[in-house]
Amino acid sequence: MQEGQWAHPQDFDRVLTSMCTEPHPAAREAAERFLATNPGDPGTYQTVARLEERAVSLLGGVVGLTNPAGYVTSGGTEANIQAIRIARNRADTDDPNVVAPKSAHFSFRKAAELLGVELRTAPVVDHRASVDAMAELVDDDTVALVGVAGSTEYGVVDPIPEIAALASDVDALCHVDAAWGGFYLPFTDFSWHFGHADIDTLTIDPHKVGQAAVPAGGLLARDESLFDSLTINTPYLETTSQITLTGTRSGAGVASTVAAMEALWPTGYREQYHVSMENAEWLADALRTRGHDVFGPVLPLVTADLSVPMTDELRERGWRVSKTGNGEMRIVCMPHVTRSMLRSFVADLDWY
Ligand SMILES: Cc1ncc(COP(=O)(O)O)c(C=O)c1O
Repeated sequence: MQEGQWAHPQDFDRVLTSMCTEPHPAAREAAERFLATNPGDPGTYQTVARLEERAVSLLGGVVGLTNPAGYVTSGGTEANIQAIRIARNRADTDDPNVVAPKSAHFSFRKAAELLGVELRTAPVVDHRASVDAMAELVDDDTVALVGVAGSTEYGVVDPIPEIAALASDVDALCHVDAAWGGFYLPFTDFSWHFGHADIDTLTIDPHKVGQAAVPAGGLLARDESLFDSLTINTPYLETTSQITLTGTRSGAGVASTVAAMEALWPTGYREQYHVSMENAEWLADALRTRGHDVFGPVLPLVTADLSVPMTDELRERGWRVSKTGNGEMRIVCMPHVTRSMLRSFVADLDWY
């Protein structure tokens, strides 16, 4: 590394694998303005606390909740951990388990380990949760069922209403992880949110497709009372209790969530969804034409059976690409991924 090289972040012009993106200019500006605020101490930092209420209300509008409860987390990981914590704390069992499809994000493994909960993962069909397979894993100690709306590796959407129905049959909570998909799905025909099914909690991350600055995740709940079991007394603060996992939190994430959503919801996000989806379809066609086995796009994400060394060579040429657990190349068409970027990527593929 040369001197001064650390002074600037990398740019996005070859990043095809990240689920984060360039923040919207208004989000970037708001993040900077609110850098020195702490929504973890709402009694003292009242302006950002009010902004957080606005953020939760805006997020509620995306996911079909008129009276949303929730907060801006550090990301999808924290939101998923907290959702499982809610389910564990409310349940009456010494041996809790959570049932999720195999495709669930690895943050659920962290949640399980931290919370002393057994994570039971069910096989998937075409990368999508199988409700029958999940049904085989539930029992009296199941505290939550997880469905994924926009999976990390293949971008698929699980059958959320059926998973919610199964959760209700076994008296468990239903948590939906829409960390990545949540800002695309409103413009699709999928059933995925509170308005479509009896969901209890949901993860939706502004710092991914929402185009807010990192860190800005989102945890929403159908009812404020779901957070009761997370309450911790906070004697030295102006307020008396906290439900969050972290203490001091980023006001930048909160402010940039509101700024991005006020700028983009719904028209800007809708346009982005269509542009990204067309890009993903173009890429899938280009790869199929070249003889590759391609999966997707269901949402703007494509995987293909490019051989492992080929992916490594692409990485050496500066492309930030990654592989699925099955070894396929995985391209996420985030807002910064343009058609011209994809054209030059495919041209590099042709070079091999
Ligand atoms: C579906 C899903 N859930 C959760 C996460 C974790 O989010 P974060 O990295 O913001 O903690 C991701 C990350 O890509 C994700 O794709």
